[in-house]
Amino acid sequence: MLVLGIETTCDETAAAVVRREGEGPGVVLSNVVRAQLDEHAPFGGVVPEIAARAHVDALDGVTTKALSDAGVALRDLDGVAAAAGPGLVGGVIVGLTAAKALALATGKPFSAVNHLEAHALTARLTDGVGFPYLLLLASGGHTQLLAVLGVGRYMRLGTTLDDALGEAFDKVAKMLGLGYPGGPHVERRAAAGDPARFSLPRPMFGRAEPNFSLSGLKTAVRLEAERAAPLSERDVDDLCAAFQAAIVDVVADRARAGVRAFAERFGAPTALVVAGGVAANGPIRAALKNLAEQIGAPLVAPPLALCGDNGAMIAWAGAERLALGLVDPLDFAPRPRWPL
Ligand code: KG4
Ligand code: ZN
Repeated sequence: MLVLGIETTCDETAAAVVRREGEGPGVVLSNVVRAQLDEHAPFGGVVPEIAARAHVDALDGVTTKALSDAGVALRDLDGVAAAAGPGLVGGVIVGLTAAKALALATGKPFSAVNHLEAHALTARLTDGVGFPYLLLLASGGHTQLLAVLGVGRYMRLGTTLDDALGEAFDKVAKMLGLGYPGGPHVERRAAAGDPARFSLPRPMFGRAEPNFSLSGLKTAVRLEAERAAPLSERDVDDLCAAFQAAIVDVVADRARAGVRAFAERFGAPTALVVAGGVAANGPIRAALKNLAEQIGAPLVAPPLALCGDNGAMIAWAGAERLALGLVDPLDFAPRPRWPL
């Protein structure tokens, strides 16, 4: 089954063609991502109106390239998928409308994909992981520990009570004068810093419910930064290192609580999966790998190109849904809010 996937929920215009051949991993035939970094950089975050217009400008070229990179013509496709949310509604409309038009013009089935579900199912695209599995979904807008029971079947074991993990990285980067998105900047500066110079809290550490709370940690970074101001390059490195060390401890501890919550209901997890933009973070991956080894399960983390937003995950989620006979109508409305 060959599916074209389109992603426009935030600040990446992306399209990809993926092949699914029964159970087992899929094949990414093309994966084109056009990030809008330059458009949003002056504002220190994503501006919805600018994002929507940039998607309009880029989508045609990105989709054409995804098809030609894959060596696939529209008539070869078995389906067209687009992320229908959650995300910024202006951008969602652009990708959703384009995918519907392609489906209508070619007579191919259409799939409206939940962006979070696409992150959640990426481990099946890359590694063919079987259900059920434990997932830490950590992006700029969402942080959840989920039991993934099947396509469309998720049980939320824990969530963040305030900021998402990626959001915490982005806010700390902003207060330290680093660029957007913050995660890669903080990771790079942290590698050069001393994590022990500033002492920061580990919110929720040791709690049984696998929830997160990150706003207190963010505030603690701000207070240390104000105390140390004006900040030298060295101070920024050390603050990033201390922040990231606290995050790594929190993620490992909360994921451990997630393992317990999962085991109570479904038995020991056979795979620990991490997905979303934050899954690109090296020390977070290393801590989760360590936890996975302790529980005797593999850690499945997407390759870096599939951690951030991309079209391949949308195409794959569409393929999984279409394989189950789940076709969506062409009047499917955008869902800016769409919890799993
Ligand atoms: O999944 P994603 O690309 O978009 C959303 O759906 O939100 O995630 C973006 C988030 C941003 O908050 C970004 O700062 C974070 O992922 N991120 C990272 C790293 N790379 C991206 N966070 C920590 N370390 C990284 N290396
Ligand atoms: Zn995402």
